[in-house]
Amino acid sequence: IFQQGLTFLAMMGVIFYQNGRLAGLSVIVIPLAVFTMVRMGKRLRALAASGQERMGDMASTLQETLSGIRMVKAYGREEAEAERFQQSNRSFLSTTMKAIQVSSLGSSHMEVIGVVGVAAIIWYGGFLVINGSMTPGAFFSFLTAMFMAYSPIRRLSGSNNSIQQALAAAERVFGVLDLRTEQDAERGQLELPRIAQSVTFDDVTFHYESQAVPALTDINLTIRAGEMVALVGSSGSGKTTLVNLIPRFYEPTAGRILIDGVDIQSYTLRSLRSQIGMVSQDVVLFDDSIRNNIAFGREGTTDEDINRAVRLAYAHDFVERLPQGYQTVVGEKGVKLSGGERQRLAIARAILRDPPLLILDEATSALDTESERVVQLALVNLMKNRTTVVIAHRLTTIQRADRIMVLAQGSIVEVGTHDELLRRGGQYQRLHAMQFQDVADG
Ligand SMILES: Nc1ncnc2c1ncn2[C@@H]1O[C@H](COP(=O)(O)OP(=O)(O)OP(=O)(O)O)[C@@H](O)[C@H]1O
Ligand SMILES: [Mg+2]
Repeated sequence: IFQQGLTFLAMMGVIFYQNGRLAGLSVIVIPLAVFTMVRMGKRLRALAASGQERMGDMASTLQETLSGIRMVKAYGREEAEAERFQQSNRSFLSTTMKAIQVSSLGSSHMEVIGVVGVAAIIWYGGFLVINGSMTPGAFFSFLTAMFMAYSPIRRLSGSNNSIQQALAAAERVFGVLDLRTEQDAERGQLELPRIAQSVTFDDVTFHYESQAVPALTDINLTIRAGEMVALVGSSGSGKTTLVNLIPRFYEPTAGRILIDGVDIQSYTLRSLRSQIGMVSQDVVLFDDSIRNNIAFGREGTTDEDINRAVRLAYAHDFVERLPQGYQTVVGEKGVKLSGGERQRLAIARAILRDPPLLILDEATSALDTESERVVQLALVNLMKNRTTVVIAHRLTTIQRADRIMVLAQGSIVEVGTHDELLRRGGQYQRLHAMQFQDVADG
């Protein structure tokens, strides 16, 4: 800017030296243009700042939604989240449009002044030359100097480019949003009523495209309605993959999954997922109030409903202790809460939804004994009267299960109750000895 200002001053010197009156004319034109520029620049800067803010809003909404995409899908919230994103999108768009309006208005303004000004200068200069009071050479060097004085100003308005870049970026984001893979994959037409009999895996194999070996091989299992099944197995044995097939986050590579005897592909995604409650390994909370985080997926929930769910989840103590209670905003990803508190909110969310089939991926991260105990109590309330598949890491959960299935490298290697499996002295017994040494001793 300093260098540009210097060029400008030097050129002004030259044109004044060439011809005072002509320079006077260009001096009227240039300040006008500069004035417009400065005013426009201020507006533009303000708009750019608020545009940046809107863009930030938009990015964090997007980031939240995408990182919690499982939760969003499991709770059938795609449309509501899309709407939330649309909103921040729209406000970003309107700020950007305003910025563009200002800048294009500004530059056309500039051009008009410039063209009229230059025309006037050429006309007057030509008149002087014809008149003989100025040599053609002097006139041309004057014109050159004047254009050189102008060009730094024109360069100053180059901020336009960044807006162009932002627009290009936005286009890419919209491109991603317009992908509709899941809707395209939606083939099912049947409405799934409340799960009445069973969930069955019939020779299911699943292979992640990026992996050399299948994550699951020939899985056969039936979970009866009302039963609580625990999945255990070392890390990477395929537990999470197995449960993710039930709400159709992935489709089996081979085999079928049946609910009440019908392939789950025949059901609409919405009705299938509305039957399933998920509490996952890492709890997903949105940067919103505690109330909205619990009501997630259910419009028109009453305060009594929320209160009841929160009580059953053993969360009312800590929620009511918070200065703003249910209106407390939990911060991005729930950072303002402890691990146990987050889990209890997720449990309250699932209780409120009252799903017939519950999928629980127990957190592996250790909680201290007290919060562990409270979370366990909350889970007992949640699992009551439901078909439950729980990926269990805690001995208390496993002992409560009707059946335990042991997974190893994508296959079910043992099935039975805790006592049966311990007596058998196989994989489970070894896993148990390894995982629960401390717990059993203490
Ligand atoms: N999204 C994915 N893409 C590719 N491979 C995956 C993906 N998720 C899991 N895998 C692979 O599939 C296998 C089974 O993973 P899975 O998450 O089901 O294990 P897990 O039993 O739940 O383990 P943990 O107890 O650590 O949660 C692993 O080898 C893992 O690397
Ligand atoms: Mg897992």
